[in-house]
Amino acid sequence: MTPTQESARGGPTIRREQRADRDQVFQVIELAFGGLAEARLVEALRKSPAFIRELSLVAVKDGRVVGHILFSGIAVRRGTGLREALALAPMAVLPVRQRRGIGSALVTRGLAEARRLGHGVVIVVGHPAYYPRFGFIPGEPLGIRPRFQVTPGAFMVLELRTNALAGLRGEVEYPPEFDEV
Ligand SMILES: CC(C)(COP(=O)(O)OP(=O)(O)OC[C@H]1O[C@@H](n2cnc3c(N)ncnc32)[C@H](O)[C@@H]1OP(=O)(O)O)[C@@H](O)C(=O)NCCC(=O)NCCS
Repeated sequence: MTPTQESARGGPTIRREQRADRDQVFQVIELAFGGLAEARLVEALRKSPAFIRELSLVAVKDGRVVGHILFSGIAVRRGTGLREALALAPMAVLPVRQRRGIGSALVTRGLAEARRLGHGVVIVVGHPAYYPRFGFIPGEPLGIRPRFQVTPGAFMVLELRTNALAGLRGEVEYPPEFDEV
């Protein structure tokens, strides 16, 4: 992936995460969530078969990591049938840098990369006021359900490839690393 310069507005560079970024990524996630669980989740997911190297992205400003987003492989199960999808989780922006479009730049770039790699569907559990602007819609009315309780409207899906949501029903299976969060 070629780094994207949002330089016209002095915004961040969005690029693939590198090994040397990992400590800063950990700190950004810890500060954004105010705890260690999500930062530890990312560390665990890096060792998981669900990890997709091309879909762990960082936002870099003045040489520092200021944001991170991860998309991992998940499955939607219906009976014995399994269909692949992506989970967007977690996403974090350094608190002092929030509300300046960095999160949106990470989502937009991440979705474009996922589409380029041929993925069809992205699932997120997040703020119902935030994700619809990227095209996410509620999953439960479509018959796609999480295995756990979520706030009404927080479980959302996005079709990256035409008709990828057609006939997609069932329960979402997250990698076991998510059980710890
Ligand atoms: C969510 C997050 C990544 C957004 O990053 P950001 O760089 O501030 O996002 P942007 O500047 O692109 O967008 C800001 C928008 O997000 C909305 N937003 C941010 N946090 C929100 C929340 N908790 N609930 C609802 N909306 C929220 C803001 O209202 C703002 O909307 P507006 O543009 O209409 O004012 C960042 O707030 C963050 O790290 N939060 C803590 C960790 C977290 O909750 N991660 C997401 C888990 S799904």
